[in-house]
Amino acid sequence: MSGTDRRIGVLFVCLGNICRSPLAEGVFRQLVESEQLSDRFDIDSAGTSGYHEGDSPDPRTVAVALRRGLRVDHAARQLREEDLDRFEYILVMDASNLAKVERLAERARPDAEIMLLRAFDPEAGTDLEVPDPYFGGAEGFEEVHDMVERACRGVLEHIRSEYAL
Ligand code: 4NP
Repeated sequence: MSGTDRRIGVLFVCLGNICRSPLAEGVFRQLVESEQLSDRFDIDSAGTSGYHEGDSPDPRTVAVALRRGLRVDHAARQLREEDLDRFEYILVMDASNLAKVERLAERARPDAEIMLLRAFDPEAGTDLEVPDPYFGGAEGFEEVHDMVERACRGVLEHIRSEYAL
């Protein structure tokens, strides 16, 4: 790869950027590393809200991931207009995130590719949301992790075919 080649930007977005999207970022990063494609990607996550600006991921997200051998580390930040230029793929967790990001894109970049992450989950059925686990119990975090793992594999497969990687 020459120094001028642009990396493929993949941004994961949820509401708080402490539960679902930092997990998706970590899962996707690990997958990309395992396929030796790290130098082709720019991977990050953000929240539609700034409620948890600067916070570490939720301890429940961290614990579930760690049991599966993944260290999740991120400082929460709010989505900003520049993200729509930096990232080719913006993968959101639920319909509310989708509406908010689309509203931002309408002003900043109407051609941005904004998709529900679970559109890439082969087991998703008709419900394409990764549910918000924040106010629920521990099992919600396990379920979210399963969904995110399946969907991230689907995303990487999709991008590999689009970019012939
Ligand atoms: P996330 O979960 O969007 O997956 O990071 C949430 C985190 C915090 C809140 C809601 C959802 N909150 O209301 O503070």
